[in-house]
Amino acid sequence: MARRESLASPWTAGVGRWRLPWLGLLLFLGGVIAFADYSRSQDPPQRQDADEFVVQRGRRRWQPRPRPRPPGRTQPQPPPPQQQQPVQDSYVVLGYNDLGMHCMNADFSQLCILPPYNSLHAQVIRRGREPDIVTRNVTVRYTIPSNTTSVTKTNFWQFAPALFGVMLPPDIGLTGNGLEGVMTPTGNNDWAAIGIPITPIDDGGFLNPYPLASIQVESQGNPVATTRAVVPVSWEISCNLCHAPGGTGPQVDADILLKHDQKHGTSLLGGPPVLCASCHADPALGTTGAPGVSSMSHAMHGSHATRMQPVADMGMTNICYACHPGFQTNCQRDVHFANGIYCIDCHGPMEAVAHPARTPWIDEPTCASCHDLGQEEFDFEEPGKLFKDSRGHGNVHCAACHGSPHAITPALTVEDNIQAIQHQGYPGVIDQCTVCHTSMPGDRFEHKRDD
Ligand code: HEC
Ligand code: HEC
Ligand code: HEC
Ligand code: HEC
Ligand code: HEC
Ligand code: HEC
Ligand code: HEC
Repeated sequence: MARRESLASPWTAGVGRWRLPWLGLLLFLGGVIAFADYSRSQDPPQRQDADEFVVQRGRRRWQPRPRPRPPGRTQPQPPPPQQQQPVQDSYVVLGYNDLGMHCMNADFSQLCILPPYNSLHAQVIRRGREPDIVTRNVTVRYTIPSNTTSVTKTNFWQFAPALFGVMLPPDIGLTGNGLEGVMTPTGNNDWAAIGIPITPIDDGGFLNPYPLASIQVESQGNPVATTRAVVPVSWEISCNLCHAPGGTGPQVDADILLKHDQKHGTSLLGGPPVLCASCHADPALGTTGAPGVSSMSHAMHGSHATRMQPVADMGMTNICYACHPGFQTNCQRDVHFANGIYCIDCHGPMEAVAHPARTPWIDEPTCASCHDLGQEEFDFEEPGKLFKDSRGHGNVHCAACHGSPHAITPALTVEDNIQAIQHQGYPGVIDQCTVCHTSMPGDRFEHKRDD
């Protein structure tokens, strides 16, 4: 690996210069929105409520805060012995969810925006002076102890034949995975179980959007490493704020279909359950939609961008939570939220999300639009790749060290911090070299991937 003097080391003070304080200042002065590049689209439309936005910003802490660090983050130290891997310490496993939150409908009798479909990843590393990423000859199992069945909690299985043309066995999702099973190699340096059909109701009947999966690695039949990772899921999609407010779930869905039929000459209401993505292209489900019909994301954000006033009038400061989960769930629960950085600060307003130049699910914000470690080639995401698919240091996935998007650690949720605490004794980014290296590396930490 080539090493350059400019490369940052995690305990160098001042690592990770972000451009935001400067941009925040710009906002104070000008009130013009010019901060993040809205997901790489051209000419991001300006916010309509720019004034309100600036006032809100004035309350935020844009200056870098003095960052109190746990001792291990300023001086490299071996982890305390009790944090070592169970049974033997030759392997370490780091788990993460791909999206940071998966939304699903609760009731599929009339319509489906998104089915239960959670994707859990894990990276298995054989510890050593030079750690080795393991992609074969071990078995990686997952269970979700608090949430072992879904079929009693949603009517998805009843309507899957009409919606997706498949008869699914109880508790088996669209890709054949269940609520426990074996993860398979992805070909991208990690293991995954795609499409786990989990709901946000635990086995005690309580709502829990942050159930914990238990991941266990076995080598020749012996457990060699475990971890716990969140499998986040929510059906807090609050269309009922405006569609049939006060009505039941079925009345809300009926109102949505009725409005669609009235405005677009369709006849969706009263027929078999409707998969929105069958006409509106949706990369999340891999559908290409009907010719000439807008994508699901463009249709939803574009048409609703000018309809959000009632939500603002209700005193809701984050209008995205009208449809994304939500005031109960608070799907953005990360270090950014703790620092007063919310959806629009990274994604822009709804007009920007609906911008015709952006491709939904592909043109997303990047860490590099605000952070800058000053490394060559790329600072953060691999070129042309999303955060969830990118790897950094030693081919370790970004999310393995930092957590999932919207759950970047240290998170506000206890569950999202458990993994880092297990492995290094404190929450936050995995910055303890000896989590993976058996001896302190002599060379500096290179943040970016180099192969
Ligand atoms: C802030 C209020 C608000 C929220 C929240 C909201 N809608 Fe709407 N929606 C409207 C209004 C207003 C209309 C237009 C009704 C009309 O013109 O008769 C509409 C129309 C629609 C239509 C008809 C097609 C069109 O032209 O847009 C669909 C489909 C729709 N909404 C789906 C949804 C879904 C799905 C959700 C939740 C994920 C949702 N809406 C949440 C206010 C809202
Ligand atoms: C049979 C095909 C079909 C299905 C199924 C369908 N739509 Fe549509 N939808 C259309 C067409 C056609 C339009 C009008 C053309 C356009 O906006 O691209 C439209 C328009 C919309 C719009 C307004 C877009 C705009 O820019 O004004 C929204 C919102 C919408 N659909 C949401 C939904 C939702 C939510 C579902 C699932 C409940 C759904 N659609 C299911 C065909 C469909
Ligand atoms: C009226 C309902 C509604 C509101 C309000 C809303 N969204 Fe969405 N959003 C949706 C739906 C429905 C999807 C799922 C689309 C799909 O399945 O492809 C979605 C998907 C997305 C996606 C992923 C797809 C893509 O385009 O990349 C992003 C990002 C997103 N929303 C951001 C936002 C942000 C930021 C806000 C607030 C400024 C917001 N949304 C407000 C309904 C909404
Ligand atoms: C600190 C910046 C940041 C904030 C704040 C933020 N997002 Fe994101 N969001 C991202 C990034 C980065 C991605 C792309 C993740 C990737 O590349 O894998 C993303 C992706 C998404 C997606 C696509 C699916 C996924 O999770 O990858 C949706 C939907 C979304 N965001 C909605 C929201 C909503 C709603 C909020 C507010 C509740 C929000 N985001 C707040 C940075 C942010
Ligand atoms: C909209 C700009 C923006 C985007 C996009 C963004 N960040 Fe941040 N990030 C910030 C700001 C501002 C802070 C708060 C800095 C502070 O005061 O400590 C922060 C803090 C952090 C911290 C905590 C630093 C610490 O030690 O306290 C981490 C880790 C982090 N971001 C990682 C990421 C990752 C990973 C991504 C991409 C998925 C990302 N950020 C995207 C602006 C952003
Ligand atoms: C081996 C673990 C590891 C991997 C893999 C990793 N990072 Fe980091 N990252 C770190 C450490 C350690 C820091 C320094 C944190 C600090 O000083 O607070 C950091 C800093 C950052 C920051 C700046 C946060 C701040 O403190 O201002 C961002 C943004 C970031 N990483 C994004 C990424 C992205 C994107 C990837 C994948 C391409 C990635 N990281 C891969 C460990 C990792
Ligand atoms: C999450 C696991 C993980 C953590 C934490 C981690 N590393 Fe690594 N590191 C790796 C992997 C995997 C490699 C790739 C080894 C190879 O080249 O085969 C690597 C390679 C290296 C190399 C190059 C080794 C060589 O000779 O090729 C150096 C130097 C290094 N790491 C330093 C550090 C330092 C310093 C830290 C603490 C800040 C650290 N690493 C934390 C996983 C990790």
